[in-house]
Amino acid sequence: MEFMQNGQNPGEGIESWNEVMLVYNAALKQVQTKMEILNDEFQHVHQYNPIEHIKARIKTPESIVKKLKRAGKESTIQNMIEYVNDIAGIRVICSFSSDIYRIAAMIKEQKDIKVLLTKDYITYPKASGYRSYHMIVTVPVYLSDRIVDTKVEIQIRTVAQDFWASLEHKIHYKFEGEAPEHIRSELVECARMVSDLDARMLALNEEILELSKQEA
Ligand code: GTP
Ligand code: MG
Repeated sequence: MEFMQNGQNPGEGIESWNEVMLVYNAALKQVQTKMEILNDEFQHVHQYNPIEHIKARIKTPESIVKKLKRAGKESTIQNMIEYVNDIAGIRVICSFSSDIYRIAAMIKEQKDIKVLLTKDYITYPKASGYRSYHMIVTVPVYLSDRIVDTKVEIQIRTVAQDFWASLEHKIHYKFEGEAPEHIRSELVECARMVSDLDARMLALNEEILELSKQEA
């Protein structure tokens, strides 16, 4: 497993709940816009959209409290800023597995984005079969009198991986993490098929690209 960590004190100076939510909302909007700009530019240069679509969400207060409780932390604003990395979350869904690292690299290149942590569940899938590329980044949010570095969780995955993760998530909730063995092994088998499908679709796409290059 690849873990990388750096950076210091994101969210420093935030006091009230409303202010927290305002700042996370702003951070989420900024990252979403950055992704859209990268996608537009890519379309312009390569006549191709690496991003299929983007989903953005702010974690609900109940879910934030639950997560803090699970971590054995008191529900304070400082604790949520420090320990809950996915208050602002964005999911970038792309067509081909090769797009995932391309998008991740473009994010890492951005001067105002600081990457705090990456988890590569593409190269190292979870035992559940889960595949996705995760990044925890901070973006500077400019308020009237100061700049607040704010954490955003970015998940990058293919359409097929997203399809799998949605169903797995539903099942995980339904059985509260204790799904029957045959369901779990069926999910692992489906994840293997998803990975195979992604590889074959990528190979097909590359062959088509090669053919159109020869024609040009
Ligand atoms: P949380 O799961 O959010 O507490 O974070 P973590 O510290 O375990 O980090 P990780 O990067 O493993 O997971 C972050 C997020 O990725 C989760 O909140 C889910 O949205 C997603 N995720 C991780 N593992 C799985 C999985 O096995 N199945 C599904 N469906 N989603 C997962
Ligand atoms: Mg989460």
